[in-house]
Amino acid sequence: MNKVIDLRSDTVTKPSAEMRKAMFDAEVGDDVYKEDPTVNELERFGAELLGKEAALFVSSGVMGNQICLNVLTNPGDEVICERNAHIFNYESGSPSALSGIQIYPVEGKLGVFTPEQAEEAIRPVSAYYMPRTKVIEVENTHNRASGAIHPIENIIALKNVAKKHNLFFHLDGARIWNASAATGISVAEYASHFDTISCCLSKGLGAPVGSLIAGSKEFIEKAFRIRKAWGGGMRQSGFLAAAGLFALKNNRERLKEDHEKTQMLAKTIAANPKLKVNMEAVQTNIIIFEPLTMSVEVAQTKCKEKGLLLSIGTATALRAVTHLDVSFEEIEKAKQILEEVFC
Ligand SMILES: Cc1ncc(COP(=O)(O)O)c(C=O)c1O
Repeated sequence: MNKVIDLRSDTVTKPSAEMRKAMFDAEVGDDVYKEDPTVNELERFGAELLGKEAALFVSSGVMGNQICLNVLTNPGDEVICERNAHIFNYESGSPSALSGIQIYPVEGKLGVFTPEQAEEAIRPVSAYYMPRTKVIEVENTHNRASGAIHPIENIIALKNVAKKHNLFFHLDGARIWNASAATGISVAEYASHFDTISCCLSKGLGAPVGSLIAGSKEFIEKAFRIRKAWGGGMRQSGFLAAAGLFALKNNRERLKEDHEKTQMLAKTIAANPKLKVNMEAVQTNIIIFEPLTMSVEVAQTKCKEKGLLLSIGTATALRAVTHLDVSFEEIEKAKQILEEVFC
């Protein structure tokens, strides 16, 4: 029987033999005492790569974003982000539940909002009866916008707005590695514009668990305390950090391959009159597309019956994500399955 082609997410990858060996061989210690040499090395290496003073290994992207927001804000504060942002839609209401803050969502285009929109969303400092704007957040690449890249010029313009108003600037860089692989702009260049950044090791990079957050030393010291308070002190987590280190050192360049696979698949989708895709948005490893002749649930089931797993992106759209556990041959097969289902 043919292997199922799993394009639900880039989180479905399993550690390669080399990654497993690095995990097996990892030296470990108690990370809550800061004595795990492999976690310490991952945090050192990650901070250097991101051009920040310090970094912290956390269990997930959600934990990374939420620790950052918690450290940057006080209850009653507000965070400006794009309407389809992960922190607004997919983090279980954590900004309010964990930090007592609220989100001001701004309608963007391909996940991008303008400096003018950010200016408009900022509350006047004198308005004591309004929430206090504290953070502007950007997601790059943008999950719900089909993996679209946030243009660096707009990042700089938003940073200038944040600085002008004394606000923090946070990057949800879960897939910043994909943005960097696609544009050639280093992750350090991207990160240099932000006070804090959260980035995932367990998505396109293929590690089984974990994210890094990075920023100033002072910020990371505060984040360390919150991570512990939220149950994120992981003891001998060097086994997991070893996978993250392996991923950072070996799996960044190859993301371009995933982008090539995405284009191959997206072109087939674009050419099919029973499917709709905005090719302008397809810039990295995610395709959000709409079946026009059946519901997303029916389309998902029909694809599954033929061995292709897709996720439901929105009420009307499916999502396909390429990653390192899907080969070019399997993409050819996925194209064929789509042609059969939407014939
Ligand atoms: C943009 C973005 N941020 C954050 C996350 C959260 O990552 P995790 O699933 O590791 O909590 C995701 C996960 O898909 C994501 O796409």
